[in-house]
Amino acid sequence: GKVAVLLGGLSAEREVSLKSGQAIINALQEAGVDVVAFDPAERNLWELKALEVDRVFIALHGRGGEDGTVQGALEFMGLPYTGSGVLGSALAMDKIRCKQLFESAKLSTARYCVVKASQDIDAAALMADFGKVMVKPSHEGSSIGMTQATSAQELQAALSEAFKYDDEILIEQWIEGREFTVAMLGNEALPVIEMRTPRGFYDYQAKYQANSTEYYCPADISTAYTEQLQVMAKHAFELVGATGWGRVDAMQDSNGQFYLLEVNTVPGMTEKSLVPMAAKQNGLSFKQLVIRILEQTL
Ligand code: DAL
Ligand code: MG
Repeated sequence: GKVAVLLGGLSAEREVSLKSGQAIINALQEAGVDVVAFDPAERNLWELKALEVDRVFIALHGRGGEDGTVQGALEFMGLPYTGSGVLGSALAMDKIRCKQLFESAKLSTARYCVVKASQDIDAAALMADFGKVMVKPSHEGSSIGMTQATSAQELQAALSEAFKYDDEILIEQWIEGREFTVAMLGNEALPVIEMRTPRGFYDYQAKYQANSTEYYCPADISTAYTEQLQVMAKHAFELVGATGWGRVDAMQDSNGQFYLLEVNTVPGMTEKSLVPMAAKQNGLSFKQLVIRILEQTL
């Protein structure tokens, strides 16, 4: 039957999704799958019926695609789709509620506080307590709207930036150390990747544009740390109800303690992306990876 690849969409991550989606389409076509590209920013999802699509590969990132809304519509239409269901998608797109779940499960995550639109905060007291923070729109991806702050003044500026994207903002204590990610395929954690950037953090530029970002796969950490992080990633993935495939991001401080950042249910699938890198380390080509994800809809 025919497979629709959903790509683009209306989120701030549209450009990334167009790249992920195109890479997936190319791989499926190479594998001889009958594919149709479908951008829900341009057409109504109901048209999938007229196109006689019988399975959907979701390559949408961010709100309105990765957050359970499209998943719910596809459920309603009776169309099988890749990746997480409604609940897992919605929870994973909400960084604040994810952190609350991590805490309830005693999974390590950085200290934080939540700010809602029009809420006053004592920025000076907060910075005195946290030292350095990362300010994040709760429901975004690709580091969009995120800024680090080391003073009350910087915090206010970072909040203004984040509020352009969201009305719930996460202020997270900055973990000085190394950044890692664990790709999930089915219930399996793939080899750990470390990302290193000379920029202040692994931001949008470091993710998609800069040549200065370095990737280490498998990460240069002990087997014990690798296993610890993979177990933690698997726990977090299951805790939020994510299924099929995804990616769990984490930091490690100089004492070796890991801190979960978040779960992504439709991680990037561009050439520079991390899940394909981890799959390759496990002997799976990009094409094989895409087919494995698609097969989960059968
Ligand atoms: N949100 C981007 C696409 C990622 O997690 O890879
Ligand atoms: Mg994310």
